[in-house]
Amino acid sequence: MGKVSSDIQSLVIKKSDFPASFTWGVATSSFQIEGAGQQDGRGPSIWDTFCETPAHIADQSNGLVACDHYNRLDEDLDLIASLGVKAYRFSISWPRVQPLGQGAWNEAGFDFYERLVDGLRQRGIEAFLTLYHWDLPQALQDQGGWNNRDICQHFCNYACEVVRRLGDRVATVCTHNEPWVVSILGHETGIFAPGLKDRKIAYQVGHHLLLSHGMALQAIRAMSFQKPLGIVLNQSPIYPASQAPEDVAKARLDDGIVVRWYMDPLLKGAYPADVIEWLGDDAPEVHAGDMAQIAQPLDFIGVNYYTRNFSCASQTWDVASTGNPLTEMGWEIYAPGLTELLTRLHADYTLPAVYITENGGAFKDPMVNGQVDDQDRLAYLHDHIQATHTAMAQGVDVRGYFVWSLMDNFEWASGYEKRFGIVHVDYASLRRTLKQSALWYQSLLKG
Ligand code: FCB
Repeated sequence: MGKVSSDIQSLVIKKSDFPASFTWGVATSSFQIEGAGQQDGRGPSIWDTFCETPAHIADQSNGLVACDHYNRLDEDLDLIASLGVKAYRFSISWPRVQPLGQGAWNEAGFDFYERLVDGLRQRGIEAFLTLYHWDLPQALQDQGGWNNRDICQHFCNYACEVVRRLGDRVATVCTHNEPWVVSILGHETGIFAPGLKDRKIAYQVGHHLLLSHGMALQAIRAMSFQKPLGIVLNQSPIYPASQAPEDVAKARLDDGIVVRWYMDPLLKGAYPADVIEWLGDDAPEVHAGDMAQIAQPLDFIGVNYYTRNFSCASQTWDVASTGNPLTEMGWEIYAPGLTELLTRLHADYTLPAVYITENGGAFKDPMVNGQVDDQDRLAYLHDHIQATHTAMAQGVDVRGYFVWSLMDNFEWASGYEKRFGIVHVDYASLRRTLKQSALWYQSLLKG
């Protein structure tokens, strides 16, 4: 495992190795695929604004058309069904259903998601709904966005309205996708929308994301909604670059920043003390009662895994030094890291059910004679599914696995240059073509 395998004979995973109830799926998010940026009353999101500065996006693109999923819904639902998956993970575009992020609802926006959940149901596919996958209404950003505590109540209202309208036809609801990304990449490094560069704001934003999660869970449960509720976190095991004490200490701190900063408040009701100390004056303002609100019982936790990380106190870690192949994102391919991550979480926390809510890779994907022979992605997916299985054999309660992504799409600051799909999208014609990895996933799911 871990090396790119080109030998199809070494692909050994079978559907029957997993429990019959295991949820096999594919995942997307609203801004990355929908397009229809100015259609039917959708309001602008922070990603529309962010894309207006060409230097923010590698290919100077934006999400106005993307995969045009909004206008190709039926075709895409048929595509999803053709894979034989049990579930589809998608997100709601908040500015499509509530253009200003508070006040009036946009009926046309809700109509689209009604057709989506109805279409999934007709095809026998479970809907895994995510409320927030980063496309905040710009109007809320204009009031401070996630840095303004008032947003927690706006998010809660939005969450309840989505559940009121669509909840009867979804299998699960997730509040946030990857709060670390929103907090750190959006507000500390500024490489993602809204592009701020302020550590104090970043951690306050992170706190409000978690608080809004806890408030939404309570409000949704108060509606007598019975289905599983959870949150999705991006996680990696983080290793010291050497056994030198300063590298070991750096790795521990980085683990605190990426993993424990979210897992501890959600599952233990407190932020990790070492990170609080390291933040000093940049630690978030926490009101009395906030931590109890955050630590609501979780029905599931979603884990997005792509790679592992190393920490080095004196310099930046050179990813090439592992000798393992890298994806087009420059991320090391290391499937055992998924097993290590899951077993570590299982050892350190009392976990609810776990779903691998995202896993996949960007590869070159040349189209030759109308086909994409993406053996590298196929091997990546195979090895990570196997790594999931290994963790399950060691006692981790993993209930499902979702490939990121159903189709090539707008990869945030990388624009359309990085392709993660198991389905190829030709951005000129918007034609979809199943890659070899999709055909393999399809055959795996046939059993
Ligand atoms: C994750 C995001 C997802 C996608 C993948 C590659 O961090 O949740 O939208 O961009 O990375």
